[in-house]
Amino acid sequence: MSTQRPLAMVTGGSAGIGFELAAQLAGRGYDVAISGQSTRVHDSAERLREYGVEAYPLQADAATYDGVEAFWSHVADLGRPIAVACLNVGVGVGGASFAETDLDAELRMIGINCSGLVHMAKRVVRAMRTQQGERRILVVSSTSATTPTPYEPVYGPTKAFGFSFAESIREELRDEGIIVTALLPGATDSEFHANAGMGDTRFGDNSWKNDRTLVAQQGIEALLAGDDHVVGGDDATKQQVIDNRAMSEPEKATRQGALARPDQAPLMGTVTVGAPRAR
Ligand SMILES: NC(=O)c1ccc[n+]([C@@H]2O[C@H](COP(=O)([O-])OP(=O)(O)OC[C@H]3O[C@@H](n4cnc5c(N)ncnc54)[C@H](OP(=O)(O)O)[C@@H]3O)[C@@H](O)[C@H]2O)c1
Repeated sequence: MSTQRPLAMVTGGSAGIGFELAAQLAGRGYDVAISGQSTRVHDSAERLREYGVEAYPLQADAATYDGVEAFWSHVADLGRPIAVACLNVGVGVGGASFAETDLDAELRMIGINCSGLVHMAKRVVRAMRTQQGERRILVVSSTSATTPTPYEPVYGPTKAFGFSFAESIREELRDEGIIVTALLPGATDSEFHANAGMGDTRFGDNSWKNDRTLVAQQGIEALLAGDDHVVGGDDATKQQVIDNRAMSEPEKATRQGALARPDQAPLMGTVTVGAPRAR
């Protein structure tokens, strides 16, 4: 082991936005510890080593207390200060109305997106308080934090939880020099919507969505700049979050519900503001 390089950790870093966050950090000279649910986390670590840094993969289930603890131990056992922690792992459940969605899947989602977030943040914050030097935490929320999310009605609230949580601990940690930033991606090209059971909705088509590399780059740049939050995505995505501040909750619910319902026609042509950018 040995190295002067700073250490970063990324939960859910084996694919999607999390892998791109890890790649952004590796490209800036950070060694990276990544977790994933499947064995591909090891292949992802190999790809990160191509940046000339070390990567430390662990297959661990973020839906369980033991899984969160296992990844934390994996990082802590490296015996190095944690310069950057990206609390990224998250899942969705949608593709049906609340009356029809699976309760166990929703409780598991709350476990990953809320309980698991709090669990890992507790470990990271307490460790960082004993450290000196660079200490940054990126919480991956969503533009779904800024709107009701019919047809994935529990997902949006889990992301609102993450956003509020990030802004809250940011304030607490400000005077200690620990920076906390929330990343709110709009709809982004990854496996997320397919895994969320939303393949038959307008979110099933990845072609119109934000580029995950761009989203990750914006997240890391905001984290390094010390910003409180950043909307990840193109100008239309950012505008939609601005618009959300002025719209009523019922208006936003109607708009979002029309996009996330499973019986909608596929999107054709250019996506404009008002089309499914919010996630
Ligand atoms: N994509 C979007 O449109 C979008 C928009 C806004 C916010 N977000 C947020 O961005 C974050 C990342 O989403 P994504 O789009 O990158 O999703 P993704 O493509 O589905 O990737 C999810 C990542 O998390 C890992 N993961 C999933 N369940 C896990 C579990 N139980 N234990 C451990 N690891 C697990 C996956 O590991 P495996 O490699 O083993 O599958 C993968 O590395 C989430 O918090 C999501 O809420 C996404």
